[in-house]
Amino acid sequence: MAELRSQWGSKVGFVLAASGSAIGLGNIVFFSANAYKYGGGAFYIPYIVAFCVLGIPIMLMELVLGAHTGKAFPQSLYRIGRRPAEFIGWWGVLNATVICMYYVAILAWVLGMFIGSMKGLWNTAPVTSGAFGSLALPNPFGYFFEMLGSWDTLWYVAIVWALNLLIVLRGARSIESATRFLVPLMWLCMVALIVRGVSLPNGEQGAYLLFSPNFTVMADPEVWKGAFSQMFFTLSLGFGIMTAYASYLPKKSDQVHNAATICFLNCSFEFIAGLAVFSLLFAFSVVPKASTLSMMFFVVPQGIAKLPHFVVGFGMLFFFLLFIAGLTSSISLVEAFVASILDKFRWRRKKAVLVVALSSMLGSMCFALPHVVDPTLASNGTLGLTLLDLFDHWSFSYGLLIVGFFECLIIGWVFGAHKLREIINRDSTLDVGWWWDALIKVVNPVIIAVVIGWGIWTEVRDGLYGASFTVKGIPWLSWFAFGAWFFFTTGLALVFTFWRTYREERG
Ligand code: ALA
Repeated sequence: MAELRSQWGSKVGFVLAASGSAIGLGNIVFFSANAYKYGGGAFYIPYIVAFCVLGIPIMLMELVLGAHTGKAFPQSLYRIGRRPAEFIGWWGVLNATVICMYYVAILAWVLGMFIGSMKGLWNTAPVTSGAFGSLALPNPFGYFFEMLGSWDTLWYVAIVWALNLLIVLRGARSIESATRFLVPLMWLCMVALIVRGVSLPNGEQGAYLLFSPNFTVMADPEVWKGAFSQMFFTLSLGFGIMTAYASYLPKKSDQVHNAATICFLNCSFEFIAGLAVFSLLFAFSVVPKASTLSMMFFVVPQGIAKLPHFVVGFGMLFFFLLFIAGLTSSISLVEAFVASILDKFRWRRKKAVLVVALSSMLGSMCFALPHVVDPTLASNGTLGLTLLDLFDHWSFSYGLLIVGFFECLIIGWVFGAHKLREIINRDSTLDVGWWWDALIKVVNPVIIAVVIGWGIWTEVRDGLYGASFTVKGIPWLSWFAFGAWFFFTTGLALVFTFWRTYREERG
């Protein structure tokens, strides 16, 4: 007999879990790295536009979809558009699983850096041991690459997966217990970091840098693409997460209130994280390189290393914060897939969690492979990091937007945006107007299509992403990554869609 579907113990429990999913590595580092890359203050305007036009409306749509149907992403879409819509649901969940695999690999490195904070990460002597020892890199740069080139990272991956497995094993109840403790702790750590950052001499100048607009860069479509992809990622949209989480809510819940609370909690955290990171960097004149991973693993730590006191303590605090923020997001990524499998295959929860965790752990290990492909570090250094860069390009920059595009069309045109709006308004204290229909049916699909179209055009103009990476003996790696991502998402989505029917269809 199928197990009973789990339920959140309270509304607060749900909001904490959903905001824990939204607040993650995306808020603490990806946002700051993007803001810096796209011109500091200028990034805010596309970001706020993306928040209003796309963030809140799509969050609302994904929550209502889950709460109304009581099902995870593929089955809730199946109810609207049968198999073609279900296929989009599986495609989204599988794309999210690719992200989950490398997200856990990044968390494994964060764990390694946390452990390193207690060992030699803050030493000033150059690192001359390990796979990249001949480069004698300064710390924390040196420590990071020494760790990346060692097999220890695979152990860290296994530890992070074991934690994920434990937390999602009992469904909403165990997720709720963990996030009730981890999410407030995450806010506390963030407050400690921001107080330290802005109280440094000149720290407040970083805040000015973050907000001083540079309007010229706003004409660049890349800035808009960056803001829109960031909005999907940071709010955990296009992953199937919010639909799965909302499916554990009672049918009658005020989703306008839920959507607004989750979006504001997430974006205010992102905002103060940006302030903390920029003030720290400004106080020590550290110029961020635009890559998100470098921001996390050596640019911010470089600022921490220059603190006058408590370097080890603040270093540990930074990596601990990253770790718990990332963990509450990774469990939601796992849950989105597990819930979808439970709906369709009616396995026991334990079996589904074990199968998903063990198979995805192997994927995460591929992204943590320490094999050195570029000893000079002209590009990504190890095979794992190179694969991560390539897969991230497809699943983050394109995958989430593709899902967003199709879900807007399915809800807007097949189900009818006005019908979903009636359902929303039935239980909400604040009525949603016709403008929501216009955003879901026309504005968002058009914007997303333009952004994706722009991306494809640049791909054609400049060649496939990653073709120039230095990977000796494997010149086809960029094509392999594209093909593997395509077959994993599209091929498996077809298999899951046509494997069997939902019980409700069988009668
Ligand atoms: N929303 C999660 C993050 O920002 C995935 O990291």
